[in-house]
Amino acid sequence: MKGLIFDLDGVIVDTARFHFLAWSKTAEELGYELTEEKNEELKGVSRIDSLKKILSWAGTTIEDEQFRKMTAEKNEDYLSYVDKMTTDDILPGVYDLIADLKAKGYPIALGSASKNAPRILKKTGMYEMFDAIVDGNSVSKAKPDPEVFLVAAEAIQVAPENCVVFEDSSAGVTAAKRAGMIAIGIGDQQVLGHADFVFPDLKEMSVNFIENLENKAK
Ligand code: BG6
Ligand code: MG
Repeated sequence: MKGLIFDLDGVIVDTARFHFLAWSKTAEELGYELTEEKNEELKGVSRIDSLKKILSWAGTTIEDEQFRKMTAEKNEDYLSYVDKMTTDDILPGVYDLIADLKAKGYPIALGSASKNAPRILKKTGMYEMFDAIVDGNSVSKAKPDPEVFLVAAEAIQVAPENCVVFEDSSAGVTAAKRAGMIAIGIGDQQVLGHADFVFPDLKEMSVNFIENLENKAK
């Protein structure tokens, strides 16, 4: 049986826009305007690596102390949005899909870069849905490194080649492919063309599709 690994931000919940709002504010302080297009390169990327990227785009450097301060402020700002979240913030189709897959007996894991994953899952009532939660607190190498997905596969005791990853970020799809897994991109084909399949959102995904996945992957 396949093991299913879900990314969090932008796949289960629409927090990608909160990250964008919070990073836009940080970028503005550095005299840089963060566009939606450039923001694609921050999706799936750890907090530390995200600020490093913004600094390089802004063509500037800061002291370590300032770096710590900026990531802390960004996170505070981000959490002000997160703390208003409820079950209504689960993306369309996601709760029913995961519940149906769970009922069929599929092992289900979270594979997220976020250190805020448990807080978000609890706020949206999704915490209990997962057999394993692997997040930014449990891994040291950020996507596109495959570590987060390999640790998740081990946690649900499924071989990597039998795992299916649901991802909205380019870095995450690269990580899943490097882990030797089937990658299902959730979002824009232009951004996620390196995934095995791309769906605009999880509304279009069905248990039937997963059941018939054998030999469909590239
Ligand atoms: C990923 C998001 O899921 O988590 C990134 O796509 C974010 O935008 C990363 O930077 C780390 O999240 P957090 O919540 O620990 O800052
Ligand atoms: Mg994501």
